[in-house]
Amino acid sequence: MIATMSHLIAPHGGELVELIVPPERAAELKSHSREWPSWDLTARQVCDVELLLSGGFSPLRGFMTRADYEGVVEKMRLANGTLWPMPITLDVTEEFAKKLTPGSSKVALRDGEGVMLAVLDVEEVWQPDRTAEAKGVFGTTSKLHPGADYALSKSHPWYVGGTLEGLQLPSHYDFRSLRLTPAELRKEFATLGWRRAVAFQTRNPMHRAHQELTFRAAKQVEANLLIHPSVGMTKPGDVDYFTRVRCYQLLLSKYPHGTVQLAMLPLAMRMGGPREAIWHGIIRKNHGCTHFIVGRDHAGPGKDENGKPFYGPYEAQELFRKHEADIGVTMVPFNMMVYLEDQDQYVPDNEVPKGARVLNISGTELRQRLNEGRDIPDWFTYPEVVHELRRSYPPRHRQGVTIFFTGLSGSGKSTIANVLITKFLEMGGRPVTLLDGDLVRKNLSSELGFSKEHRDINIRRIGYVASEITKNGGIAICAPIAPYDSVRRQVREMIEPVGGFVLVHVATPVEVCEQRDRKGLYAKARAGIIKEFTGISDPYEVPPNAEVVINTADLSPEEAAQEIILHLEQQGFIGVNGEPS
Ligand code: PPS
Repeated sequence: MIATMSHLIAPHGGELVELIVPPERAAELKSHSREWPSWDLTARQVCDVELLLSGGFSPLRGFMTRADYEGVVEKMRLANGTLWPMPITLDVTEEFAKKLTPGSSKVALRDGEGVMLAVLDVEEVWQPDRTAEAKGVFGTTSKLHPGADYALSKSHPWYVGGTLEGLQLPSHYDFRSLRLTPAELRKEFATLGWRRAVAFQTRNPMHRAHQELTFRAAKQVEANLLIHPSVGMTKPGDVDYFTRVRCYQLLLSKYPHGTVQLAMLPLAMRMGGPREAIWHGIIRKNHGCTHFIVGRDHAGPGKDENGKPFYGPYEAQELFRKHEADIGVTMVPFNMMVYLEDQDQYVPDNEVPKGARVLNISGTELRQRLNEGRDIPDWFTYPEVVHELRRSYPPRHRQGVTIFFTGLSGSGKSTIANVLITKFLEMGGRPVTLLDGDLVRKNLSSELGFSKEHRDINIRRIGYVASEITKNGGIAICAPIAPYDSVRRQVREMIEPVGGFVLVHVATPVEVCEQRDRKGLYAKARAGIIKEFTGISDPYEVPPNAEVVINTADLSPEEAAQEIILHLEQQGFIGVNGEPS
């Protein structure tokens, strides 16, 4: 077996790094660990640790020290001169950093459940210049670039560098047979007799264009094909990987038998375009691949504030080509594949005959068609794939939705919410839950008061429950005062990825609410008996982004509820006769 494996491409740096220690050492580390500080890894750090331990990031043996980090940021080189384009750093809080002594501390790195995955030998602790990092690595400090945004506002301000001793890889219970480490994949290639393998990196479902592109690429270089999707963290808003993997599995039968393999890569992408392409190539080399497909806008982060793409469409190919010898993997560059209607075939867009009719459906357009339950043509993708996508992404009228009321006490939120609930019940088809301010305060938040901090906790709880209801296809009607904009936005961000979110501002003026004073609370607030009363002695921030604004001076509760129904219909959240189809 060893002789056969030696035919495979050498890993980056010459040797496959495997950091999992033998059981005796693991037991030793475990018994000492109670004396060491523990760091609970973030989701992205768990991904990085997995690829460090398995050798996906060979030749790295741990989180970068300062010299490696600065070399990588400035010139894509580790301190010893090896090409490496992406910083792999352990970011921690200042409080945690202060506990560490470089040269002697050890840190137990733990996953979300507290399981120790690895031990870090602390070599260096420093405060990086994260602006320089974002500029150097991504060429921008824009918040719209996911990688730059992470470096600048999501990562912790201190970095800890040092080597790792691995105890175990993060546990995965899904698609076990597809989670192959570099060593496992290399063994598989050796068993299958694959000397040349071309890897295809993806974070999207694959359609006919991708099948055509990968098939052509494999034929062109006479190599076998590894479909190697990133399933760690990808771009926010991407199709979830469970759905994607089911789609990839359906696609395997579209290639000649014995020439294609599917494996999942637990990579946390940075959306770093050209640099990321090189990184992806190196990682695939470590997994035993000789070739790597770089298409149009590889690992593209989208557009900046001025609507300009962060990178040119073929910049990744250019940078890869420049460093191809150092990367050690042969690039298979591809232009975008488009469909020629008259010839019923896909071709790269630089091979389109003059005047030919070309068709294409963008990712955004596909999402819209799924949302609206519209046709997805056979020329674009396979019916099995459409079926799979529709199962996970039903049309809007079968998705869950949250209707989130905000407004002063006595503004009419509860009354309108109650009318709305009966309308939904009349329509049928989706379960409806009312999370009224008073009800929530009684059942979920009885220990909370009305300080900003407590109100925010209250709204986050409501948002969490509503997001669960929405995720599972129900309708959540929330009716708290929710006076603060930032937490309302947080709730929106929590819910929009899993369904609809409609903010309804019940904009009854405070004078009218006070005049009505149905519960006598305004009188008490004026008398100072109730403190921090919204609109009287506490602020209410008018939402600038409400989908529906209701003025109860003009509209009856029934009319108000009808306005909301019409908005939902217009957005596609209510189908014909409310029938789920
Ligand atoms: S918040 O700000 O969203 O957390 O408030 P909410 O959970 O909706 O609770 C508002 C209800 O509590 C009663 N109440 C007060 N409201 C505002 N400010 C103060 N200080 C206060 N103290 C008690 C009031 O009855 C609110 O109910 P509604 O249904 O809005 O009138």
